[in-house]
Amino acid sequence: MRFTTPTLLASLLSPSVLAAAVAGCAKCNETAHGFASLNGGTKGGLDGKVVTVTRYKDLVTFAAANEPLIIRIQGILKADPKGFEVPVTSDKTIIGVGSDSGINGGGFGIKKQRNVIIRNLRVSGTYNPKDYPGKGDDFDGIQIDNSTNIWIDYVHFSQMADGLIDLRADTDYVTVSRSIISQHNKAFGIGWTQNVISKVTINDCFFNSTNVRGPSADNLKMGHLYNNYYRNITGYGIYSRGASSLLVENTYFEDAHDPIVAGPNGTIKSNWLKFKNCTGETHLNVKPESVFKATDYYAYSLRDPYDIPIDIPYFGGPQTTIGI
Ligand SMILES: *[C@@H]1O[C@H](CO)[C@@H](O)[C@H](O)[C@H]1NC(C)=O
Ligand SMILES: *[C@@H]1O[C@H](CO)[C@@H](O)[C@H](O)[C@H]1NC(C)=O
Ligand SMILES: *[C@@H]1O[C@H](CO)[C@@H](O)[C@H](O)[C@H]1NC(C)=O
Ligand SMILES: *[C@@H]1O[C@H](CO)[C@@H](O)[C@H](O)[C@H]1NC(C)=O
Ligand SMILES: *[C@@H]1O[C@H](CO)[C@@H](O)[C@H](O)[C@H]1NC(C)=O
Ligand SMILES: *[C@@H]1O[C@H](CO)[C@@H](O)[C@H](O)[C@H]1NC(C)=O
Repeated sequence: MRFTTPTLLASLLSPSVLAAAVAGCAKCNETAHGFASLNGGTKGGLDGKVVTVTRYKDLVTFAAANEPLIIRIQGILKADPKGFEVPVTSDKTIIGVGSDSGINGGGFGIKKQRNVIIRNLRVSGTYNPKDYPGKGDDFDGIQIDNSTNIWIDYVHFSQMADGLIDLRADTDYVTVSRSIISQHNKAFGIGWTQNVISKVTINDCFFNSTNVRGPSADNLKMGHLYNNYYRNITGYGIYSRGASSLLVENTYFEDAHDPIVAGPNGTIKSNWLKFKNCTGETHLNVKPESVFKATDYYAYSLRDPYDIPIDIPYFGGPQTTIGI
């Protein structure tokens, strides 16, 4: 294991100021955009030391530590026991070294914590081919309950037993960006609450060969989805469920069934969506006047949707240049 300390400057600067490079961890000074940039921002373990793990049990130990840490995962670590969701506590960055690091056979669990970054990882391998619906095991890629300020970035999630990403029970101020959500039944769920308070940004993600929940957003106060690409969606794509309010911009849907739909009390405002060979229903504007304006909260840039699918997966998943 290798221990290094970040430069002194990093701990003196506030997240809104450019953070100095973190020694021995490329691009580890980056902080969240979108809704995760509000409410004090999301900088994970930027104020703490950097540790590198090559053994699963060290990941489990450091993820539960009572101090800020940047935890680099080097290589694909095998979960033990199968399906275990590594509990991650506040003020952590968990980041893969290069493009082939992560967890196989398990995921992450975040319960009542704040300020966590999960970045540049591969998470897969609890899928049971005899159980496509995933009803037998509750082995998620990441389950987050009642937490705030979470940034999931450049993660490749695929083939797990239950959900790939489940944001539950009032988890708030979340950004999921540049991630690939692939080959799965119930891909991305948001809800498990009667309250309507959660705010989530989902941008530059690739939903690939998923059946349902891209996401299923139940009682989401503000869901901002932009620059996403959906391909081979067999059940449905985006679902505004319960009292959710979704702003869906610059998105490309290809071979998708029911690409974007609202339930009876859900609202949707859409802006420049492109559909290629899609079937089923598209609910483009459902009480759009009641949908929020994302520019009231943060700045962001939209891609031309015609550019989105040409060079897959250039915008998502683990990168060779991060965490090294
Ligand atoms: C990270 O550090 C590098 C090198 O000092 C700097 O160029 C870059 O702007 C910093 N990025 C952020 C987001 O603070
Ligand atoms: C989340 O936690 C707060 C404070 O602990 C609690 O009051 C609230 O009921 C929880 N929300 C849910 C949906 O569990
Ligand atoms: C997309 O899904 C197909 C299976 O339908 C799979 O072969 C391919 O590897 C996936 N692509 C990515 C980038 O995950
Ligand atoms: C589409 O996704 C389904 C699983 O949802 C998979 O069985 C099929 O091979 C995929 N088709 C393509 C063309 O990737
Ligand atoms: C829609 O809202 C009405 C009035 O609040 C409520 O009675 C009904 O159960 C809601 N339906 C759904 C599917 O949420
Ligand atoms: C259109 O989508 C269907 C799945 O809904 C797929 O089987 C078919 O190959 C697609 N056709 C073209 C021309 O891409």
